[in-house]
Amino acid sequence: MRERRHELLCLTTPLGGAPRLPSRGATMSNEEAYAGGLLNRALDPATQPPEIRAFLQAEIELLRDLTASGMRVIDLGCGTGRHLALLRDRLALGVGVDYQHVYLVEAHARAGSHPLHFVTGDATAVPIASKFDLAICMTNTWGTMSDKAGVLREMRRLAPGPDRRLLSVYAAASVPARCEWYRRLGHGVVEVADEFILTEGGFRSEHFSEARLRDLVGACVVRPLAEIAYVVTF
Ligand SMILES: C[S@@+](CC[C@H](N)C(=O)[O-])C[C@H]1O[C@@H](n2cnc3c(N)ncnc32)[C@H](O)[C@@H]1O
Repeated sequence: MRERRHELLCLTTPLGGAPRLPSRGATMSNEEAYAGGLLNRALDPATQPPEIRAFLQAEIELLRDLTASGMRVIDLGCGTGRHLALLRDRLALGVGVDYQHVYLVEAHARAGSHPLHFVTGDATAVPIASKFDLAICMTNTWGTMSDKAGVLREMRRLAPGPDRRLLSVYAAASVPARCEWYRRLGHGVVEVADEFILTEGGFRSEHFSEARLRDLVGACVVRPLAEIAYVVTF
């Protein structure tokens, strides 16, 4: 009984929903993979093949170009808050949302006295009514989320202006570099399909064609980024 209670206390509770129980013996979900610290290992440059490093750098340059002084930015699936931290000197407000509370503790520490705030919650049900100049979902975070339409709906609600929403996602050309990266992270690849990579750790990460992005997002501008990715503005 005590063990059971402890297990329940360790579960993440999505806002407004029931705790998600990792089923015993089942494949690990993305949420469990992130809870195991996958992101911190992935952000260690020593684990990153050169194509991945170039993509991460291109994202940083893109964000620097797109943000102006005084902007309000919300980052869905912000992880440890590195993109908001990068922009912190110019933002009037930065809000990061992630369902892994432990990442947000790190993000909060990194923010110092800057106007950055972090909310533990699901990107499909963000408990914020304010509006932002820009909503971002970077580094293929959207490609690891199951309810993609729900995330787009929240991005449109939070940043209602035209072209104020930004996704950065992998193209199919990223597959060899990602397979190598995941292998280095201890998640050997068990399946490469037209639309996703599945690892033996149960981590599932999608990649996209331009046509599929237009199909999923609707009216949008799709541009290549660093040869292995796309940036989508909608
Ligand atoms: C690929 S990582 C990227 C993190 C961060 N954007 C970065 O580039 O460093 C994806 C992040 O999204 C979070 N995440 C995935 N699905 C989520 C959801 N439905 N709601 C909130 N956070 C989610 C994970 O916990 C993880 O921190």
